[in-house]
Amino acid sequence: MKIIKKVDKMKTYAKIMKKENKLIGFIPTMGYLHEGHLSLMRTARKQTDTVITSIFVNPLQFGPDEDFKKYPRNIKKDEELARQCGVDVMFYPENEDMYPEGFATYINVEGLTEGLCGKSRAGHFRGVTTVVMKLFEIVKPDIAYFGQKDAQQAFVIKKMIEDLRMDITMKIMPIAREESGLAMSSRNAYLTKPEKKEAGILFTSLKLAEESVNSGEKDPKKIIKKMRDSISASSASAKIDYISIVDTKSLKEVRDISGEVLIALAVFIGKTRLIDNIIINTEKSEEGYKNVGTPKERNTVQGRA
Ligand code: PAF
Repeated sequence: MKIIKKVDKMKTYAKIMKKENKLIGFIPTMGYLHEGHLSLMRTARKQTDTVITSIFVNPLQFGPDEDFKKYPRNIKKDEELARQCGVDVMFYPENEDMYPEGFATYINVEGLTEGLCGKSRAGHFRGVTTVVMKLFEIVKPDIAYFGQKDAQQAFVIKKMIEDLRMDITMKIMPIAREESGLAMSSRNAYLTKPEKKEAGILFTSLKLAEESVNSGEKDPKKIIKKMRDSISASSASAKIDYISIVDTKSLKEVRDISGEVLIALAVFIGKTRLIDNIIINTEKSEEGYKNVGTPKERNTVQGRA
């Protein structure tokens, strides 16, 4: 596995791959890799000729009171894990090379970024789309892989790709979960053991929502109340940032549940803000949509884009 640190070198490498007609698969990350990232890398390995992953903790997507400084980092372990997944190139650029002094160009997707996490994390998605656009420009991927865990991020990037008519296929892959159902995230490293146990409540509440929909409940307010009640009942320290049920195209809240909806939530467990979601399509199956299953079977929106 090649390690490339300089933007120019990465660009040259990508250009050579293009000339050789190699299909480039790209997994942008902020490192501290877990099974979620690794599953994207393994899929890219199967589907493309050259697999590139980037590790860059992007300062632009963190608010002033957020965890940029303490975001977990372990580059040596990341290198080893990526190597095991058959990654060809790990690109980890330096901040000064990505954002040289005087950097003043930003990408902003309107609308989709306003609700959900956009409400409590001002400027976050502008930071994400700016860095992803920049990484796309450097790495020149044919296929880019993202996890459904950050569903709003995935939808926003998909919109950017569509609006700018970029020649990139985006694949949104299923959420990798712990046995408890807790969605894998680099930020889970912040949780103490008891907090980690408590954090299972996010997934439990999503399953509860899904069961309600399956048994015919169409009122999002009632479902959200059920979710709130179940979270408060089983965790004294959990603080709900939001629970929303939105249309997957507009990311606007729905008045009743029909078609495809995203049920998303952000909850603080102690000081750690965790997010999770499920996508439910009420029209998909004649028997009623079944999304409750083992972690591995859940939430597949592969091939959506
Ligand atoms: O999901 C992430 O890890 C980041 O938001 C991303 C897409 C790598 C951009 O910094």
